[in-house]
Formats: sequence, structure tokens, C-alpha cells
Amino acid sequence: MNATTRTIAVKTATADYPVIVGRELFAEIPRRMRLGKTRRRVFALTSPEIWSLWGRQLQAALPDSAVPTVLFLPNGERYKRMTEVERLATEMAKAGADRASLLIAFGGGIIGDVGGFLAAIYMRGIEYVQVPTTLLAQVDSSVGGKTGVNLAAGKNLVGSFHHPSAVFADIDVLQTLPERELRAGLFESIKAGIIRDAALFRFMEQNAEAIVRREPAALERVIGASIRMKAGVVGIDERETGLRMILNFGHTIGHAIETATGYRRLLHGEAIAWGMLAALRIALERGTVGPDQVERMEKTIVAFGPPPPFRATADKLLEAAGRDKKNRAGKRRFVLPKGIGDAMVVEDVTDAEMEAAVGWILRRCLQQKRRGAAM
Ligand SMILES: NC(=O)c1ccc[n+]([C@@H]2O[C@H](COP(=O)([O-])OP(=O)(O)OC[C@H]3O[C@@H](n4cnc5c(N)ncnc54)[C@H](O)[C@@H]3O)[C@@H](O)[C@H]2O)c1
Ligand SMILES: [Zn+2]
Repeated sequence: MNATTRTIAVKTATADYPVIVGRELFAEIPRRMRLGKTRRRVFALTSPEIWSLWGRQLQAALPDSAVPTVLFLPNGERYKRMTEVERLATEMAKAGADRASLLIAFGGGIIGDVGGFLAAIYMRGIEYVQVPTTLLAQVDSSVGGKTGVNLAAGKNLVGSFHHPSAVFADIDVLQTLPERELRAGLFESIKAGIIRDAALFRFMEQNAEAIVRREPAALERVIGASIRMKAGVVGIDERETGLRMILNFGHTIGHAIETATGYRRLLHGEAIAWGMLAALRIALERGTVGPDQVERMEKTIVAFGPPPPFRATADKLLEAAGRDKKNRAGKRRFVLPKGIGDAMVVEDVTDAEMEAAVGWILRRCLQQKRRGAAM
């Protein structure tokens, strides 16, 4: 299997842009964005870490007339805030950014969310491209146009829809990604397979080792299919009024775990892995999926982890799940698989079902901890 460049079109009511997946893609940026042909200022938002790893390569790919002014955002979720957006906008203004300027968001999901938001509001909106450097950002956050920042009151509470003009998902940059980050992102790809792409699920089930070893062809297959799934869903339901909700599979309980553990213990994808395991218990009890299929899904999730154990009380998790922002008008929306590659949104998950599912994952955390301590 050879790695080849794939292009996936994102077509929504308000946007139409390509997501390009492949190797050595930085060279595609000036070609696709017609840099060098027109005189426009280019800004790159990145973190010092990512810039020191990959900045030289990015810079080398851009023509002399488009040498980027580099804007830095320190690493970490605590910098995904309005104060940073204001600081960055001020830096852009001082450096002469105008409405024709192009912003390159070059980093993980945090850089992508802040960069997208900055581009959405600077002079009421400038063009930007995403160059995602984590697996999570490539398969999830760079596609779909959601941008924004956190408030002290909660995550992603301020933001806007602002699609990039293109996404360049270069798999070479993933070679430097810490393994834990890679695995965490892959849980979102398993999610993609479970909710809408049985072939992707089967590929991940059968090729876990090659994927985690970052074999380019295997990574490209997984990333391409994950993006295609998300692009398809976003194309049908850009604003999350219907179908897009299925992307929240594993996220009701996953978000509750993140809240209950103060966002410190687990990476987002790891919390989602636990959330998917919990949702699978509910699906199993209801019989929306057969036991054989549940077992295959569980095994595959565990094969890409297992997600690390965490400590929280059932009460705290249930309380946090009750407050999940995906709840509308007091109803708890919950995504359940209907099989491998198909999912549905239900509103009638009971407290008892939630308790049983949460109890099950907490017991599993304990078992994992004991096993870890015994080794
Ligand atoms: N907009 C959306 O639709 C959407 C969807 C999902 C998640 N998100 C957001 O994405 C954010 C999480 O993104 P993330 O998981 O990419 O985390 P992140 O941006 O914090 O990156 C994770 C870590 O990987 C490092 N890193 C990034 N690329 C690297 C590389 N190539 N080599 C070595 N290290 C590298 C970063 O420095 C950082 O330490 C959250 O804020 C979340 O809310 C947004
Ligand atoms: Zn997620």
C-alpha cells in the first residue's frame, strides 16, 4: 500500500474547500493559495514548540514574497482565551495586517481553534488555512468551521463558524507527535468508524499496529476516511441541528469525565474513549447492537489504548453529564450505535442507564489500576 495524496471536498451551505491529506504538503500551500502571484501579507500562528520542530520546513516552502510574520501562542488549553486573541490581533495590526492578509494556523487543535477565531473576527473576517499538526486536529478540529476560545465559565463558550479556505493535513508532521497524543486522536477516528464508516472501523480493527507505528499508508487511510466522514456530516448539517450531533458519540460521558477530572488527568480523546465504552454498555443493554459487535468495538478501543484510568465518583460524573451543553430544553441527547458504522440520537436515556454505564467504567478503571500496580 503506497501513500498518495487525497483531496476531500468540504461542501456546506456557506463554504466549499479542499482538505488535502498526504506527505510533503507544505509545498502545496503557495500553489493552492496563489502566494507569490499576488502580494499579500502572510501570518503564521503557531506555538514555539511546533515552530522549532517544523517552522523551517514551512518557511522554506513559502515564496520570498510570502515570508510569514510568525505569531506565537504558548502551549496549553489555558491560553485558548479571549485575552490571547486580543493580544494576537494587536500584534497583527501593528505588523500591518489588512483584509487581504492570510493567516496560517499551524499547530494542534488549540492553535486551530484560536487561529480560526482570530481570522473570523480580525477586520470582521480574513482568509485562513489550517495546517493541523496533531492527529486530532487533522481528523477532527480542522474540519467543519467551528472556531473559538474558552471562558472561565466553560470550554468553547465563545466562538464562531468560520471555515478555512483549505486544510493541509500533512502526515509527515505526525512523526514528532508524542505517542499518547497520537493514540488519543485515533480514538476520534474509531468514533468516525463506529458512527458512520464500517470499512474504516474494520481497517482500524485489523491494522492497529501499523497505524500506531505510523506507517504512512495506514495513517493516510485512517486520516482520509475520518475526514471524509466528518466532511460528509458537516456538509449535510453545518450548524449541528440534526445529523452533526452523531459526532458527539462518546462525548456526553467523555465531557463529564473531563469536567470531573478538571481537564488534567486525561487527554480529550482518552476521555472520549471511556465515554464510548460507557455508551456501548447502554447500547448493549438496550440491544441496539448485538454482543458480538459490542465486543469488537470494545476490543478495538482498548487496542488503541487502553485509555488511562482516572479517579472520580459516580455522583460527580452523573452531575457533570446532566449539565452537558449538548442537552437541549432539559432533554439529554445521547448517541448510541445501531451497529458498526451506524448511530442514532436518542433522548430517553434514563438516570438508571447512565448510572449503570458510569459504574461499569469506574469499575474498569479500578481493575486497570490494580493490574498496573501489580506489574
Ligand atoms: N473546532 C473543533 O471542531 C474542535 C474539535 C475537537 C477538538 N477541538 C479543540 O482542539 C483542542 C485540542 O487539540 P489537540 O488535541 O490537537 O491539542 P493541542 O493543540 O494542545 O496539541 C497537543 C500537544 O501536541 C503538541 N504538538 C502538536 N503538534 C505536534 C507535532 N507535530 N509534533 C510534536 N508535538 C506536537 C502540542 O505542542 C501540544 O503539546 C481543544 O482545545 C479542543 O477543544 C476543536
Ligand atoms: Zn471530540
